[in-house]
Amino acid sequence: MDTITGFSRHSGALRCVPVVPARHVPGLADDVREGLLEPPRSLPPKYFYDERGAALFNRICETPEYYLTRTEDALLRQCSADIIALTCPDYLIELGSGSSGKTANLFDACERQGHTCIYSPFDICEPALAEAAGKLQDDYEWLDVRPLLGDYHAGLDHLPDYAGVKMFLFLGSTIGNFTPGEARAFIGGIRQRMEPGDFLLLGADRVKDPTVLNAAYNDAQGITALFNLNVLQVLNRELGADFRADNFAHLAVYNNELNRIEMYLVSRLDQEITLGRLDAGFTLERGERILTELSYKFYFDELETLLEDSGLEIVRHFEPDNRYFSLVLARRE
Ligand code: SAH
Ligand code: TRP
Repeated sequence: MDTITGFSRHSGALRCVPVVPARHVPGLADDVREGLLEPPRSLPPKYFYDERGAALFNRICETPEYYLTRTEDALLRQCSADIIALTCPDYLIELGSGSSGKTANLFDACERQGHTCIYSPFDICEPALAEAAGKLQDDYEWLDVRPLLGDYHAGLDHLPDYAGVKMFLFLGSTIGNFTPGEARAFIGGIRQRMEPGDFLLLGADRVKDPTVLNAAYNDAQGITALFNLNVLQVLNRELGADFRADNFAHLAVYNNELNRIEMYLVSRLDQEITLGRLDAGFTLERGERILTELSYKFYFDELETLLEDSGLEIVRHFEPDNRYFSLVLARRE
């Protein structure tokens, strides 16, 4: 399949070009068989993001408790001019771009500096990707938006060939949703796609007062709970399962030893679950947990090690006065 051509500008909706997987990644049925049928039970986080999940995530970002988005957005507003001046990118490739809301700061900086570039948001959620790409194309007429649809775990080998300076963007502390081993492998994979002189801009949440962290994942309006429970609806729809959201509680707690938020769905009662399309089922005891998300928090030196061990050199580190968040600009030497 041709993954490069096929995008169309100024002709209505932008086409999201599928990125051909460079390796096999398990699908929902495999992941459920592997992770859910036997304890300890878990689900990979990518299944959160159907259309409703993506909309709920955007609402999480607006809750007063979820400081991450606001903090990273303010930081980007401050440092985008420096970043664009330092990097002069021909291509911005954003992994897990979602609504691309914060990324607009970089385009504003481009505009002020009379710099043009091509922007490829890469996401697994087609409705969110199409909406974000269309909005950016409307807002920034000079910007060439080329949305890429796919799973970034399937490898980055089949991204289009970019001739020019690339800057990869990995924002929102999505890096924290990987285990340390996955994070190293992922940064290593990005590094492999970089040529000398290319850049990576990484946004990562920092270790801080656990009260602040626990509140961020337990907003008072209960949006995070709805987001967490939404994954059960995805399983009902995709696998013909019979989960009832009422029978589960949202639990998010900060683990002080491992510096991570752990998010679970907790069974409120003894219950039996059937997965119609898998011809399988399992029982849950009252209080039993399904792990749905990890969100690691970082010390700056951990970010330094993560990037430098992959052969990337840190060019700039931006942080707010309260040191709640890091934006690290790194370059392949
Ligand atoms: N970067 C945005 C969104 C973060 S939420 C921000 O900072 O606000 C995580 C995003 O990654 C979602 O848009 C989700 O659809 C996407 N995503 C999750 N798993 C993915 C995968 N395996 N491949 C590609 N995109 C993925
Ligand atoms: N990368 C985000 C984070 O770790 C993802 C996220 C925010 C999230 N809130 C969530 C994931 C709630 C699951 C549930 O903060």
